Amino acid sequence: IGRRHPYHPHLLSMLEAARLARGIHLYYLEKGFTQGTKSGPTDLVTQADRESEEAIKELLLSRFPEAGFLGEEGGSEGSKALRFIVDPLDGTVNYAHGFPFYGVSLALEAEGVIQAGVVMDTARGETFYALRGEGAYLDGRPIRVTQRAELLGSLLATGFPYDVAKDAENLIYFGRALRRGLLVRRPGAAALDLAYVAAGRLEGFWEVKLNPWDVAAGWLLVEEAGGRVTDLEGKPYRLGHRYIVATNGQIHEALLQALLSD
Ligand code: IPD
Ligand code: CA
Ligand code: CA
Ligand code: CA
Repeated sequence: IGRRHPYHPHLLSMLEAARLARGIHLYYLEKGFTQGTKSGPTDLVTQADRESEEAIKELLLSRFPEAGFLGEEGGSEGSKALRFIVDPLDGTVNYAHGFPFYGVSLALEAEGVIQAGVVMDTARGETFYALRGEGAYLDGRPIRVTQRAELLGSLLATGFPYDVAKDAENLIYFGRALRRGLLVRRPGAAALDLAYVAAGRLEGFWEVKLNPWDVAAGWLLVEEAGGRVTDLEGKPYRLGHRYIVATNGQIHEALLQALLSD
């Protein structure tokens, strides 16, 4: 991770685990994979989701047996004082269709505070990572959010839960944003969306009903890159909140306003 950082054994192992997961994603892309559904017909899970989570868990817990583990496919186990929060394949629907926007997200939480985060883009091979107090990086180079201050003309992203037909709240915000002429994308991998805000490729991102494994790493990336992460009311974000709004800071208030009023 270069000379800029103090030696951080957890982050080094998380980077290793991310590379391992990426290898598994690529292997099954080549070989073909079985897939099933979870909560409904569009909520997919593939062999690559399950096996990459197993591999990540084995690597991290063999190195740090005192740590707990929360993963999308395996649930929660072990200590809560120190735990890894992992989405082994974020963007499964994209993956299953060969749409190249998916990756892996790993965070380290200590006493309820995210200390390190890694988001790796499988298709592009890019690695985003952050250490609390030490900044955010893309493949070893420091990254910053953009300085753009106008909401109109900013590039934004959002996403929807698999049960969006039942929980349609974000359709209201999405509609408001589009009606204002805002530039909105729905890339399909929340961890990468957040990493893109950190790297200055998007000005902002919001979503409703994400899970801790979708956002834990990206949240730290955005804050360490100089951005702002809150709930819909502008209160500091907390893991488990229903709403997340992450921006370059400059457009934050304007985006909250735009989402909340017709
Ligand atoms: C999903 C993606 C998507 C978001 C969904 C998530 P998964 O995660 O991050 O962008 O809109 O809400 O569930 O299932 O592909 O890991
Ligand atoms: Ca996810
Ligand atoms: Ca996932
Ligand atoms: Ca999933």
